[in-house]
Amino acid sequence: MAGHGVQLGAVQETLLIPLYGRAVENRKAEPALRDPRAEEIVSAIDYDFDRFAELPSLLGTVLRTSLFDRWARDFLTAHPDGTVVEIGTGLNTRYERVDNGRAHWFELDLPDVIALRRRFFTDTPRRRMIAASVTDGGWADVVRERAAGPYLFSAEAVLPFLGEPEVRAVVDLIADRFPGSLLALDTAGPGIITTQDRHDALSKVEARMCWSCADPAGLARWRPGAQLRATHTLTSLPQEMYEALPAAYREMLTGLAAQRLAQVEEYRLNLLRLP
Ligand SMILES: C[S@@+](CC[C@H](N)C(=O)[O-])C[C@H]1O[C@@H](n2cnc3c(N)ncnc32)[C@H](O)[C@@H]1O
Repeated sequence: MAGHGVQLGAVQETLLIPLYGRAVENRKAEPALRDPRAEEIVSAIDYDFDRFAELPSLLGTVLRTSLFDRWARDFLTAHPDGTVVEIGTGLNTRYERVDNGRAHWFELDLPDVIALRRRFFTDTPRRRMIAASVTDGGWADVVRERAAGPYLFSAEAVLPFLGEPEVRAVVDLIADRFPGSLLALDTAGPGIITTQDRHDALSKVEARMCWSCADPAGLARWRPGAQLRATHTLTSLPQEMYEALPAAYREMLTGLAAQRLAQVEEYRLNLLRLP
């Protein structure tokens, strides 16, 4: 359970980590991204965010979000009337940063998260929240009935919390119901899963990751014709993104890359094209 004022289940509570990461980032003089909404939301929620203060992985959440933003922007540049589906949206604010005034957006999460989200965001004709588990396929009907493709599915920091059979079922569902779509997802390798009790942020909450993915290239073999379009670690971000980061971050990432830590090497941000 999250703190007084927020009633969330264990896995749902994890949304407060990237939310806090973006709020902290927004206060910096030279940030990787701006997110004034995250700062407002953090100050409106009664929760002990201090437990996450100064954690190194907060910047990791911000860099991950920036790369997912970049993929969403690229998608909307190619398909301005396309549809973005945020799976496990938490209190993310990608719409605020990336929307182009034309696309459709769906923001899906478990019912208690959507109830919390509705305190801060409202549905519009182009932006709708869906209260459901990603593993219950009914949400796909809602998306298909209301918005045409092409589709980008953005599952940021969500699927590692499911078991592998559930992740496979989600990938199959998206491939079956939305052929040709893109799926952005992160993967954590076995060295991360086995040491997560010592992870700086996860050790502060109850939820644990379940799905271990040693090599995201294998995801493309789950469905014949699927292609892994991109895969990055936090220390091998796309060159233009890396160059646009504040100098202090570039220096830190270069130093981190040299250490070749399993925790960094095994955490990957991936873009999969489904057949
Ligand atoms: C670490 S948070 C990430 C939130 C958001 N994507 C972000 O980056 O700010 C994980 C999110 O996945 C959601 N989640 C976990 N299991 C889910 C499921 N079966 N269906 C839908 N959402 C789920 C949680 O409720 C939570 O909001």
